[in-house]
Amino acid sequence: MSGVNKNIVILISGSGSNMAAIAETALKRRWQARFGARVVAVISNKAAAQGLAWAREQGIAAVALDHTAYDSREAFDAALMAEIDRFEPALVVLAGFMRILTPGFVQHYEGCLVNIHPSLLPAFTGLKTHQRAIEMGCRLAGATVHRVTSELDHGEILDQAVVPVLPGDTAEMLAARVLTQEHVIYPRAIERLLAA
Ligand code: GAR
Repeated sequence: MSGVNKNIVILISGSGSNMAAIAETALKRRWQARFGARVVAVISNKAAAQGLAWAREQGIAAVALDHTAYDSREAFDAALMAEIDRFEPALVVLAGFMRILTPGFVQHYEGCLVNIHPSLLPAFTGLKTHQRAIEMGCRLAGATVHRVTSELDHGEILDQAVVPVLPGDTAEMLAARVLTQEHVIYPRAIERLLAA
């Protein structure tokens, strides 16, 4: 990735634990000094997202953009793009952002849009990944960091982590085990992109 300032904008919808892991790693591993990179903004489609309050406390710009206030997916994505572009991002990071994006949005950020998905892609695209992995009898589950293309949960795989599915696991237990590894691989994948 080239350029002097590598602004990172993170999109969330909920607790934002991946966002926090990325923002903390950015400080701990001195991304600003090493790559000119910092997390400049966190944007959520839900005003109540816990992650927004956390970001605000860290001094990161935190913006809520309520998707229900827009008539169409296209109208929301246009407003979202305008908001993101104010921060002149080099990287747009989807971290539990639970919205399907329009092709126009994906094209606009082509090459600088990444996502984390709680399964070993290409298995289990979409929702309820942990429940589906348990029901299928999978012995292994995990998470994938990938580039975003207009096809949902596809795009080049940048990193993966594997965890065991244990006897008696509920979807919640498996999700918690996977999430601990998401916090490892997402910052790591982003650091690799910044260093490239
Ligand atoms: C994470 O498990 C992430 O992989 C998943 O939502 C969770 C967000 O947690 N993303 C998706 O399911 C995307 N389709 P967080 O808000 O604590 O980072």
